[in-house]
Amino acid sequence: MNIIVLHGSARRNGDTDTLAEHFLRGMATTGSHEITHFTPIDMSIAHCRACMECMKGTGCVIQDDMQNVYPAFRDADVVVMATPMFWGYMTSQLKTLFDRLEAVVCSTYFGNKDFVLLIGYRSYYGSMIEWLERITKFAGSRCHTVACQTFDPATGTDRPINQTPERLTEAFELGRRIAEVSP
Ligand SMILES: Cc1cc2nc3c(=O)[nH]c(=O)nc-3n(C[C@H](O)[C@H](O)[C@H](O)COP(=O)(O)O)c2cc1C
Repeated sequence: MNIIVLHGSARRNGDTDTLAEHFLRGMATTGSHEITHFTPIDMSIAHCRACMECMKGTGCVIQDDMQNVYPAFRDADVVVMATPMFWGYMTSQLKTLFDRLEAVVCSTYFGNKDFVLLIGYRSYYGSMIEWLERITKFAGSRCHTVACQTFDPATGTDRPINQTPERLTEAFELGRRIAEVSP
């Protein structure tokens, strides 16, 4: 299968990267896959300028690293979005990437895929679930979520993700299940 992983976090090997790693390990139990990683914080991705040139059907006119994302996104069977909650939503760098996908909103790019949302959060993640359910329903795709609370309300401190092994297992099992059931 073709898998792309969009690493939304500003830091490497943090909570959401760890969830993604366990998800990919689960997928690997059924065989090898083509995996492409994109890390928007380290890429050159300009903001959408709403010029509407893409309405001509010729893609985005901005020539930057998104030009590598477009074909990989189109060909992906599984799109993994690993993002911490930042002010109640995905991180700004991941949002900038999704704004630029406006240039290719059609079933060729969004239909018949498994969208996997891996979230790290302290207190709230509902807006992300609502977002993903809405876009996948519109596109006829499948959506899956693992949300890990990386904060302990009892002590009021952040909690390293390896202290919630049940969420890492959930990510692993989700990867295994998607790899097993996909055609
Ligand atoms: C700038 C900033 C804003 C945040 N905003 C929220 C938020 O609105 N809601 C929430 O539940 N957690 C929020 N958090 C907590 C992170 O989502 C959480 O620590 C996450 O597990 C970090 O994942 P990472 O290690 O992959 O970056 C915020 C963290 C930072 C640094």
